Amino acid sequence: MTDRFRFTLNATDGKARTGVIHTPRGDIRTPAFMPVGTAATVKAMMPESVAATGADILLGNTYHLMLRPTAERIDRLGGLHRFMNWEKPILTDSGGFQVMSLADLRKMSEDGVTFRSHVDGSKHFLSPERSMEIQRLLGSDIVMAFDECPALPATDEVVAKSMRLSMRWAQRSRDAFGDRPGHALFGIMQGGVNRDLRAESAEALKAIGFEGYALGGLAVGEGQEAMFGVLDYAPGFLPEDRPRYLMGVGKPDDIVGAVERGIDMMDCVLPSRSGRTGQAWTRRGQVNIKNARHMDDPRPLDADCTCPACRNYSRAYLHHVFKAQEIISAMLLTWHNLQYYQDLMQGLRDAIAAGRLAEFTAAFHAKRAEGDI
Ligand code: GUN
Ligand code: ZN
Repeated sequence: MTDRFRFTLNATDGKARTGVIHTPRGDIRTPAFMPVGTAATVKAMMPESVAATGADILLGNTYHLMLRPTAERIDRLGGLHRFMNWEKPILTDSGGFQVMSLADLRKMSEDGVTFRSHVDGSKHFLSPERSMEIQRLLGSDIVMAFDECPALPATDEVVAKSMRLSMRWAQRSRDAFGDRPGHALFGIMQGGVNRDLRAESAEALKAIGFEGYALGGLAVGEGQEAMFGVLDYAPGFLPEDRPRYLMGVGKPDDIVGAVERGIDMMDCVLPSRSGRTGQAWTRRGQVNIKNARHMDDPRPLDADCTCPACRNYSRAYLHHVFKAQEIISAMLLTWHNLQYYQDLMQGLRDAIAAGRLAEFTAAFHAKRAEGDI
């Protein structure tokens, strides 16, 4: 038992890495996929079920929780882990990114951002100092620095100005975070799709010093080719001995490509959100359970999956409960999607450890190319 936050790299295959992030709340096996638990719940899932899929860590959101039920209330009730009944590690995003996409009437300054809540219109302020305070009240294990992510497309000048503000905020986040053994603060690299700006951002973050480093400002509409273009060089700007977290990614093929390029952690709403809209992710690609072709199909959604949706139910049943808008539809499809994502991560970890990542990714792409037959 250690009270320290520590990353151990166990094996590499090309640029891909596998290891373990040790925290007082348990180990995080990398490459790791973090299910999103925005409002202190992974929607449609009990926490025990999320753990059963193989998730070692969840993501929570400063922005949503500060508005409702508030960080102060969660603190009084014993912290976010106890509040939501998830004892394993939690990473919290810092709020700036969500303010930009969700809040009303935003006003930016050097100090921070003032905005109105999308829930009830009430006025709030977030700054590096306030974000660090909220994430401390929540009891987050991995705290994200407060940053700004410019809306794309944007000129290099706009991206540079925004990145430099985020780097000043990264220093203020580091100063406000203080000395908290067992908890980690991650810096966030910005710079859009500009190599020089990414390099400048990485140097600024390394000079400050963080327990881990995230790549922000990607998967914001630039497309997979442009994102992979950045991932071909940007992870290499970061220290080898610290975890690298790609924020907000992605589809299964984005994840595989990111891991091949040296990413250790990712998060995305996709598996949980699409579980509620009838979209399933399987070894044979995307399956739309709404489609009438499933109506009489007695086969499981994915014959190779061990989740309850695939072990105990037919495609015909999954189609029926989706059409009938039964709550179990969201429960079963979300479980399946999260199970598929965690199985993919386990496959990647095993392949990297065995030095067989190229074979694994070739088989991954081949099976998807066959399609859902
Ligand atoms: N989630 C996805 N992208 C980003 C980003 O650039 N910054 C933060 N804080 N969160 C994100
Ligand atoms: Zn399944």
